[in-house]
Amino acid sequence: GKVAPGRAIWRSPSNLAIVKYWGKYGQQLPRNPSVSFTLDRAYTETEVAYEYRKDTGTGISLDFYFEGQPNPAFAGKLEKFLGSITEIYPFLRQLKWTIRSTNSFPHSSGIASSASSMSALALCLCSIERELFGTLADDAAFFRKASYIARLGSGSACRSVYPGLALWGETGEVAGASNLYATPLQEVHEVFKTYQDAILIVSKGEKAVSSRAGHALMEGNIYADNRYQQARQHIHTLLGALRTGDEERFGQLLEAEALTLHALMMASNPPYILIKPHTLTLIEKVQAYRRDTGHPLYFSLDAGPNLHLFYPARVKEAVENFIHAELVSYCEEGRWIADHVGQGPVQL
Ligand code: PMV
Repeated sequence: GKVAPGRAIWRSPSNLAIVKYWGKYGQQLPRNPSVSFTLDRAYTETEVAYEYRKDTGTGISLDFYFEGQPNPAFAGKLEKFLGSITEIYPFLRQLKWTIRSTNSFPHSSGIASSASSMSALALCLCSIERELFGTLADDAAFFRKASYIARLGSGSACRSVYPGLALWGETGEVAGASNLYATPLQEVHEVFKTYQDAILIVSKGEKAVSSRAGHALMEGNIYADNRYQQARQHIHTLLGALRTGDEERFGQLLEAEALTLHALMMASNPPYILIKPHTLTLIEKVQAYRRDTGHPLYFSLDAGPNLHLFYPARVKEAVENFIHAELVSYCEEGRWIADHVGQGPVQL
């Protein structure tokens, strides 16, 4: 019979990897395990609405609106993704879809939105599965499936469905860890739940090399095997530091991972550089501040020039004064985003 119309809405945050996922194989499977902070203020809100489809065709029937406007470029990508998961969700072809998405941060701010947008979409699809079939009643099963679907959209997105810290990728260190979906990290010292992430926008321009191309270049990178081994050691060290609340070890590892990610890019064939002169200036200033004050202020980088500063809430005031006094002049249009470790996605 005719399916009654329905919809699901989720707000889902971005995340920042501490140990980075860089290199993949097969269907979005990671070459090494990764661990990330789920953020709070950098999020996507997605509404997925469905109704009866008269002319069941082979393709996906989709209307897509980004920030309230029809967006054919994004719609094409989305149709392709939905078309690639019809074996998991045959109903994608049987119904007519309208998807509306908005980000809390400007699209061209240099903040990657694939983690927040793909996790929000995956959560909506799982809610619709729940609604239509009564499956996924158990929350653990629900979020595992959402993480699995998000991974197929964008690898790092699978870590965004959990509050606090999430782990993705097989490792003997944590029971239940998988390459197919992320799991929440339970044993985390209280101090890390107070962590702030100040995102300094160095450049909001498009990246010269996409992360898809970057992952592919790892296949020919002569340092790749050593890198994957190092990432496993870093996971071990990181999990220890997270358990015991060792902020110094955590911070050293955070910075080592960020610089390794960019070193791998510079050592690819062909080589490429995504950081900018201001990225390096900011790094020097952050390290000098740490030496002078003893505050645990450390940086990370994503696959781009923007700097993420991590620090516990107890030094928030001092660090924000430092950002205003000495760092904002190196940010594009003086822009930075005050984010922090978040509570995970919410259904609206
Ligand atoms: O999710 P992707 O395929 O866009 O890869 C992103 C990888 C990094 O953001 C650079 C690191 C990570 O683990 O998030």
